[in-house]
Amino acid sequence: MTKVLTSTSKFSQLQKIRVGVVCGGTSAERNISIRSGRGVLKALVESGIQAERLDPATKTFWKKTENFDILFLVLHGNGGEDGSIQTILERRGIPFTGSGSKACRKSFNKLVTKRYLRKWGIPTPTYTALSQKDWKKRATLFPTPYFVKPLDGGSSQGVFPVEDFKKSAETIRKSLARHQRLLIEKRIYGRELTCGILAGRALPVVEVRPRRSFYDYKAKYTRGMTEYLVPAPIPRCAASKVMKLTEKVCGAMGLKDFARVDFMLDEQNKPYVLEVNSIPGMTELSLLPKAARAVGISYHEVCLTILAKSLTRFQGR
Ligand SMILES: Nc1ncnc2c1ncn2[C@@H]1O[C@H](COP(=O)(O)OP(=O)(O)O)[C@@H](O)[C@H]1O
Ligand SMILES: [Mg+2]
Repeated sequence: MTKVLTSTSKFSQLQKIRVGVVCGGTSAERNISIRSGRGVLKALVESGIQAERLDPATKTFWKKTENFDILFLVLHGNGGEDGSIQTILERRGIPFTGSGSKACRKSFNKLVTKRYLRKWGIPTPTYTALSQKDWKKRATLFPTPYFVKPLDGGSSQGVFPVEDFKKSAETIRKSLARHQRLLIEKRIYGRELTCGILAGRALPVVEVRPRRSFYDYKAKYTRGMTEYLVPAPIPRCAASKVMKLTEKVCGAMGLKDFARVDFMLDEQNKPYVLEVNSIPGMTELSLLPKAARAVGISYHEVCLTILAKSLTRFQGR
């Protein structure tokens, strides 16, 4: 059924524009990005907008961008959330949705993000960085249990818990050989939460309950492996703290239109920010659209809101 939402005054400026939905790319999250892109494209077309899918991994990508008024970016991981495509688009004056290159660059590198969080007094688990040179000493001195993660990436790829350094030393060494640098971070026990933001306002908090030891790749992308509760059944003051922190983090990092912040809530209901996603999953089942639905914002409206916000920003220049 076609839902022509663009005829409503809120979205009427979208009626005549041509939108390129950019998804795919070359990162490890290519397949997820294609799924997100498929959802966004369907929502735009069903809303009466002229839209087409574009993949930066194809040779004709840059030539094709000339056919559109704005690009809706749904690229995850390297080449999408790291600010690189945004840098080129800004240089060429091509309008696009979501955060600018600087905000993406800051939020993509988990170590850089954590430095900013510290600077703004936003709670985040204690951490240290490992490099080839001194990793053994640092990883031994850091109290277990902790999580090891690549500085960039997503979908939990390369993320693993360590309980005993000696047992995990070889896995850390191999991971370091692959990524050059790693982040290690105190493991927080408690409940896992995530909070999306849309047009500057935090959406209801989602609790993520994986049936595995943590929210790893399998738990993220295998049906039935994780339970999602919206709004999260946590004390009201904890939920409001998480929502306020989400707005603070996104505001401070300069993130625009939409983003998602991942948290752990410890046993004393204290929230800790784990990381920030500048282009979170955008399939109809993804967490940000799920949270929006809980406050009566449909998937189609989420996509149109992002588009309308970005368009207004570029038109105002
Ligand atoms: N410090 C931590 N304490 C507890 N769990 C963690 C911690 N860091 C990561 N995790 C677990 O690992 C998952 C992936 O980590 P995250 O930092 O969000 O990276 P990604 O960018 O891959 O999503 C989280 O969703 C959570 O389940
Ligand atoms: Mg995450």
